[in-house]
Amino acid sequence: MKIAVYPGSFDPVTKGHLYVMERSAKMFDHVIVAVLVNVKKTPFFSVEERMQFIRQSVAHLENVSVDFFSGLLVHYLQEKKAQFIIRGLRFVSDLETELQMASMNKDLLPEAETIFIPTHHEYSYISSSIVKEVARLGGDIQRFVPEQVFHAFTARYQGDHGWQK
Ligand code: PNS
Repeated sequence: MKIAVYPGSFDPVTKGHLYVMERSAKMFDHVIVAVLVNVKKTPFFSVEERMQFIRQSVAHLENVSVDFFSGLLVHYLQEKKAQFIIRGLRFVSDLETELQMASMNKDLLPEAETIFIPTHHEYSYISSSIVKEVARLGGDIQRFVPEQVFHAFTARYQGDHGWQK
C-alpha cells in the first residue's frame, strides 16, 4: 500500500494546496494531509480550524485523511508507515528550500521519497501568507481559498473592510 504524507502549515489551506491534494489522491492509495503544529509560531488559524478547513475541502476524496503532527516529519512518516512525502512547487525558487528539506529527510530516513507536484499555473502565485496579507488589507481573496476559509476570514475581519459586505 502506497501511503503518502502531504505536510504543511496550511495556515490556511489554499486552492493551490487543494490542487496538489487532488493530484496526490490519484497517485497514492492513501494520502494523509498532516498539519504542522509549531509551538514556536503563533498561527492565524488554530490547528483545529486548519484541519477542519482541509477536511471540508477534501470530503469528496475518499483516500485522503487529515491529521496533525509535531516534531520531525520523518518520525511521523515512520509512525504512519508512509513512504512518500508530497510537496507542491510553484516557482523555481521554491526548489531551493524544498531540495534542502528533501535531502535532509532522505538522509534521516533513506526509504522516504519526496514527490514534487507542480501547482496549477492558475494558483502558482498564491501562498497562505499572501492570502492572509490581502485579506488583512481588505482585498478579495474568495477565488484563492475554499469557501469555508473565505467565510472564516470574513468573520475575523467583520466590519474592518468593505469587501465582505
Ligand atoms: O507549509 P510549510 O510551512 O512550507 O511546511 C513546512 C514543513 C511542515 C513541511 C516543514 O517545516 C517540516 O517538515 N517541519 C517538521 C520538522 C522537520 O521534520 N524538520 C526537518 C526536515 S526539513
